[in-house]
Amino acid sequence: MLAAALLLALPFCTAESVSSYAGSTVVDSYPPPGATNTAVDTYFPDASQVGYAGPTPTGAEPAAIVTAIPFSKVENAFPLSRPNSADGADMAFNVMRHWGNLAPMYSVDSFGLPEASPVIPEGCGINAVHLLMRHGARYPTSDSGASHFASKLHAAASQEGFCATGDLEFLATWTYKLGAEILTPYGRDSLFSNGVAFRYRYGNLLNAFTDLPVFRTTSEDRMLDSALNFAAGFFEIRTYETDYHQEIIIEENNFNNTLAPYYACPNANTEDIGNFGSTQAKKWADIYLKDARKRLQPMIPGFNLTISRLVDMQELCAYETVALGYSKFCDLFTQEEWEGYEYYVDLNFWYSSGPGNPATAAQGLGYVQELVSRLTHTPINVWNSSTNSTLDSSNITFPLNQPIYVDATHDTVISSIVTALNFSSLASTGPLPTDHIPRHRSYIASQIAPFASQLVAQVLSCPASDEPTHIRFLLNDGVVPLTGIHGCTEDSNGLCVLSSFISGMHERIGEINFAHDCFANYTMPNPDNIIDGRYPS
Ligand SMILES: *[C@@H]1O[C@H](CO)[C@@H](O)[C@H](O)[C@H]1NC(C)=O
Ligand SMILES: *[C@@H]1O[C@H](CO)[C@@H](O)[C@H](O)[C@H]1NC(C)=O
Ligand SMILES: *[C@@H]1O[C@H](CO)[C@@H](O)[C@H](O)[C@H]1NC(C)=O
Ligand SMILES: *[C@@H]1O[C@H](CO)[C@@H](O)[C@H](O)[C@H]1NC(C)=O
Ligand SMILES: *[C@@H]1O[C@H](CO)[C@@H](O)[C@H](O)[C@H]1NC(C)=O
Ligand SMILES: *[C@@H]1O[C@H](CO)[C@@H](O)[C@H](O)[C@H]1NC(C)=O
Ligand SMILES: *[C@@H]1O[C@H](CO)[C@@H](O)[C@H](O)[C@H]1NC(C)=O
Repeated sequence: MLAAALLLALPFCTAESVSSYAGSTVVDSYPPPGATNTAVDTYFPDASQVGYAGPTPTGAEPAAIVTAIPFSKVENAFPLSRPNSADGADMAFNVMRHWGNLAPMYSVDSFGLPEASPVIPEGCGINAVHLLMRHGARYPTSDSGASHFASKLHAAASQEGFCATGDLEFLATWTYKLGAEILTPYGRDSLFSNGVAFRYRYGNLLNAFTDLPVFRTTSEDRMLDSALNFAAGFFEIRTYETDYHQEIIIEENNFNNTLAPYYACPNANTEDIGNFGSTQAKKWADIYLKDARKRLQPMIPGFNLTISRLVDMQELCAYETVALGYSKFCDLFTQEEWEGYEYYVDLNFWYSSGPGNPATAAQGLGYVQELVSRLTHTPINVWNSSTNSTLDSSNITFPLNQPIYVDATHDTVISSIVTALNFSSLASTGPLPTDHIPRHRSYIASQIAPFASQLVAQVLSCPASDEPTHIRFLLNDGVVPLTGIHGCTEDSNGLCVLSSFISGMHERIGEINFAHDCFANYTMPNPDNIIDGRYPS
């Protein structure tokens, strides 16, 4: 009797559901070794040698940000397969939107200004644009949860008693195909497309250049790759290398870099302070993944499906989709569990790189100083943040008169910078609870720092003239209210008078204590008292 009951309860293990290579890592490389044979190059003369290019007259630069009726906003993620949740294939629910910082960028409708459009307000002219963008979709970072999942699975698979059945049967033959850190093909595509889109929207500002533009990025492979793909889309693939100057700022420990400021901010890297978001997010994971654990663990005896492993599996859904085009991990989780995951990432960002961390505004400070310097055409002369004096005191490497600025950075840096800019509407619903998802939410990581995220400052003149009078900010196409900044008043188009914004930023720069927040030896203060990324006074 007991034996029969036990037999019924056991999953049905076939030879296919047990395999010792489950979770092993697969690595490919291209081009094939020895295939770059320069001896045959002469058979393939380049275009200048071949000639016969046909006529090549140019036209006028587009300016859709001025002329367009609100253009169609970004939504699809071609050529990726649309992932489904466990609730079924026909639901309108879009799993991708719930991947937090791993979501492909989508246009945000509104940050609280429902009438505002990315197209500049009627009667205004555009004088300059400042773009801060995140790199495109990438593999997981080194030593990620996704790779841990693979190695733990692989270790379990060679043990007696391991078996994968039901919805998890695919794991018996699943291998780990992800590299680390670098862009995926979809990530390259996003930045190229964003470059093309930026040319449509702001192309005619190129007419105001007298020298070649300087665009900036950091030294990491995916950062350079993102910058180059953007430039290839914005200019054109055959000439972009000579159409502008690409500045590559060293991203490494102890180097000052406003686009990678954590390396100049020790407290950003501690377990207690820097990693506080992960501590908070874990509390929530224990809650929202409880049911998933009950449902899925019986399908994989011999492998301990802990809450952390389940989070890894949700991340694998996102990473495999952006790297391989689809993932079998996605439809293991219900709509509610995807909403849970999204909030898990929100908690991580809020408490590690957002308004709820005491070292966040300090990290965004350097970029804010640079922005003010560019807006006022005044060189920086005090070096008290992550700015690099060698680069920023030169008008060659840090020009102050460009109509277009393009800087590439990371997700956590964009979230630090919007905190330093005091975009308080993002923090309006206050510190995030770790035991439930609040009904009203102002802070959603996929709207702030998705793959290929874009923060755009439009410098405007209203009415149109050569002298700028106003500024406003678009975060992934959504216009951001600036009312949290002293001097900026309510405006349905998100406009702030330029001189008021600048004095508000001077005040903000003065209230951020970089030396203390980044370097002082303190323990994590009560997070209920932190809403603008500074150590509470
Ligand atoms: C500043 O940038 C220059 C140029 O890349 C570099 O040589 C120098 O080491 C940097 N200094 C710091 C403190 O990051
Ligand atoms: C599974 O992991 C959890 C968390 O680490 C641990 O508490 C539990 O004892 C483990 N179960 C087994 C069967 O190893
Ligand atoms: C790097 O930043 C520190 C801290 O703000 C500053 O003291 C130092 O002068 C900076 N170094 C350079 C080269 O900018
Ligand atoms: C850059 O600075 C140098 C020296 O201060 C000055 O001679 C030059 O005119 C400046 N160039 C620009 C483009 O502002
Ligand atoms: C920034 O926001 C915080 C929190 O709302 C506020 O205390 C501070 O005065 C604001 N600073 C400026 C310069 O607007
Ligand atoms: C840093 O320098 C700026 C001037 O650029 C000043 O307003 C601010 O008070 C300084 N901050 C600190 C902490 O010294
Ligand atoms: C920080 O302060 C704690 C408690 O006062 C002390 O134990 C620790 O050694 C200090 N760490 C550093 C790096 O000074």
